[in-house]
Amino acid sequence: MQQVKVNIAPGQGLKRALGIVRKLVERVAALSSREARALATLVRLRTRYGAVPSSALSRELRADEREMTKILNDLVKNGLARARLVRGEYSYEVTRRGLDSLAISWLISKGFISDLGERLGVGKESEVYLAWAPNGVPLTVKLHREGLRQFKALRRLRGYALNIGDWIEVSILTASREFEALLTVKRSGGLVPRPVVAHLNAVVTEYVEGLELDQVTSLGLQDSKRVLSDVIETLRVAYANGIVHGDLSPYNILVSEGDRRGYLIDWSQYVNVDDSSAQSLLREGVEHIASFFRRRFGLSVNPEELVNRVKGG
Ligand SMILES: Nc1ncnc2c1ncn2[C@@H]1O[C@H](COP(=O)(O)OP(=O)(O)O)[C@@H](O)[C@H]1O
Ligand SMILES: [Mg+2]
Repeated sequence: MQQVKVNIAPGQGLKRALGIVRKLVERVAALSSREARALATLVRLRTRYGAVPSSALSRELRADEREMTKILNDLVKNGLARARLVRGEYSYEVTRRGLDSLAISWLISKGFISDLGERLGVGKESEVYLAWAPNGVPLTVKLHREGLRQFKALRRLRGYALNIGDWIEVSILTASREFEALLTVKRSGGLVPRPVVAHLNAVVTEYVEGLELDQVTSLGLQDSKRVLSDVIETLRVAYANGIVHGDLSPYNILVSEGDRRGYLIDWSQYVNVDDSSAQSLLREGVEHIASFFRRRFGLSVNPEELVNRVKGG
């Protein structure tokens, strides 16, 4: 049997990645409960003010202005908030790092995770970290960022008055959509990382030890057939529940180490089956995957037939 080479830690850039992780962990560890409350309040009040005037924040938190100024200065110094002068008064906004830190500190305080590990992936739209539950089980934390893909996917949501200028709202909504899709697909028996919890822009799931399909250079016939059929079966389960994965690619399929199953990840771009783009997204996605399996592993597959299987035919 041919071996799948599994490297969890990407050698390249690992040092850099660890540096960044340490910074995030340190920032969270250094966050006092008053700072966390101030950050959470900035997040909450942004829909009313945009940048929140420090006087409004003091009133809301019943803190005196001097104390508030000290907290806000520390948040700014640590890159968790930024200050703007609005009509002569300093007003404050949460930065992306601030939102990440707030989400992580909540996950820790509620006992969902006890530690963060290396950064597993970084893209324009998210950062994914290894983490551990208090009982030692490895998990992943995906921190969503605002991005063009999100805007495109969310614009399709009918009847939702989304303020796409509000990156915090977009990031939070994207995380909750991904979590909902994972829950739905997992409950119906699809092969996705088990969802644990979502909070703010963070989604916590089971950690799947393995490789992105794109990095798998050799896979026996049986294994490659199994991985493909796992993916098709998961797409079928999703479809039966009204969900089409919006971003099907070899980067979003994880081949688990050992049993070599195909896990489908990255569900935040999903569309509903009745969406005008759903059928073409499904067809193009399946064709993309099929041609990858043909080229990389020599599987002869008929995309038409696979699409029919997904639709329950
Ligand atoms: N549950 C998981 N287990 C192991 N690795 C994961 C998991 N989720 C994500 N990753 C790693 O992080 C990368 C980025 O995750 P993904 O959900 O695809 O986010 P993005 O939107 O940035 O592409 C993946 O390609 C994979 O390498
Ligand atoms: Mg991805």
